[in-house]
Amino acid sequence: MNRVIEAEHLRKTFGTLVAVDDLSFSVDSGECFGILGPNGAGKTSTIRMVYAFSPPSGGTLRVLGLDITRRARSVKSRIGVCQQENNIDPDLSVLQNLEVFARYYNISGAEATGRSRELLRFMALDHRENTRAVDLSGGMTRRLVIARALLNRPELLILDEPTTGLDPQSRHQVWERLEELRADGLSILLTTHYMDEAARLCDRLIIVDRGRLVVEGKPSDLIRRHVGRHVIEVTDPAEGMPAFLRERGVVFENLGHRLVVDVEDGTPLYREIGERFCNGGCIMRMATLEDVFLRLTGRDLRE
Ligand SMILES: Nc1ncnc2c1ncn2[C@@H]1O[C@H](COP(=O)(O)OP(=O)(O)O)[C@@H](O)[C@H]1O
Ligand SMILES: [Mg+2]
Repeated sequence: MNRVIEAEHLRKTFGTLVAVDDLSFSVDSGECFGILGPNGAGKTSTIRMVYAFSPPSGGTLRVLGLDITRRARSVKSRIGVCQQENNIDPDLSVLQNLEVFARYYNISGAEATGRSRELLRFMALDHRENTRAVDLSGGMTRRLVIARALLNRPELLILDEPTTGLDPQSRHQVWERLEELRADGLSILLTTHYMDEAARLCDRLIIVDRGRLVVEGKPSDLIRRHVGRHVIEVTDPAEGMPAFLRERGVVFENLGHRLVVDVEDGTPLYREIGERFCNGGCIMRMATLEDVFLRLTGRDLRE
C-alpha cells in the first residue's frame, strides 16, 4: 500500500507546553483521513508539521515518501493547503488571487489564467471572478481558498477545519467538492470538530485529546465498537430508571436531567422504557460519531 503520510511518535512542544505528544498514524494514497479532537487538542499543530509549516520537536514524519525535515520544499510543491484562517489578499479580485498564487508554483500567463478559471468553475465561483475578495461571503471565501490549494494539482490536499463557521448550504457545497476530488483519487487530510463532517467524508480517522491519540478507525467501526447501534435518550426520567438499567446490565450515561443509553438493538428496551419511565421526552435514534466523541473525550468544556 502506498502511504502518503507516515507519522511515528510525532511530538510538538511550545516551551513547556506539549501540543502533540507521541502521535503515530498513517494515511494511505487515495484516502480521506480525519484528525478530530476538542479545541486545543493539537490538530492544527499536527497538520502544520505535515505541511512543513512548523518543524517537529520529535519523532519522524514522512509525507509523499519524503522526510519532512530534509525535503520540505519538495513536499510543499506537491501538496495543497487550506489553513484554518482564510489568508487571501482582500484587495485583489477572485481571479487575481489565484493568478498571483500560481506564480509561486511557476505557473504564469495563459496557463495560470486557464487553470484558475477551471478551478473557479469547479468551486462554483466563476460568476465572481472579478469580485474583490473582501466582498465575498464566508462560504465563497472558503471556496476560493480551496480552489487556490488545487492550483498545483496536488497529490495530497490538507484542510484545517474546512467548514467551520459556514452556513449549511456552503458546508454541503464544500463537502460535495471534496467528495468529487476524493473520487478522482486525491488523498485528503482534514481536521474537524464536526462529527457529521467526519462521518460523511473520512474513510478513517483518529481522535486526539490533549495532544495524544485516543482512538483510530473507520467511522462505522468506531460507532459499533464504542457505542453500539442505537441510542435511547430520556429527558427527566421517572425515578428508578438508573437502577432498572443497571439491573439490565445496559451501558448508560447519567447527565442528571437526561439519561443516554447505548444499546445494540434498542427496540425492545425502548418500548419498556416508554411504558415505565418516560415523563418527559423519550427518543431512540441511530448511534453517531458524536456519541463516540463525547464518550471518549468527555463533556467538559475546553475554552
Ligand atoms: N505557536 C504556538 N505557541 C504556543 N502555543 C501554541 C502555539 N500553537 C498552538 N499552541 C498551543 O498548543 C495546543 C494545541 O493547539 P492547536 O494545535 O491549535 O489545537 P487545535 O487545532 O486542536 O484546536 C494549545 O494548547 C495551544 O494553545
Ligand atoms: Mg486548530
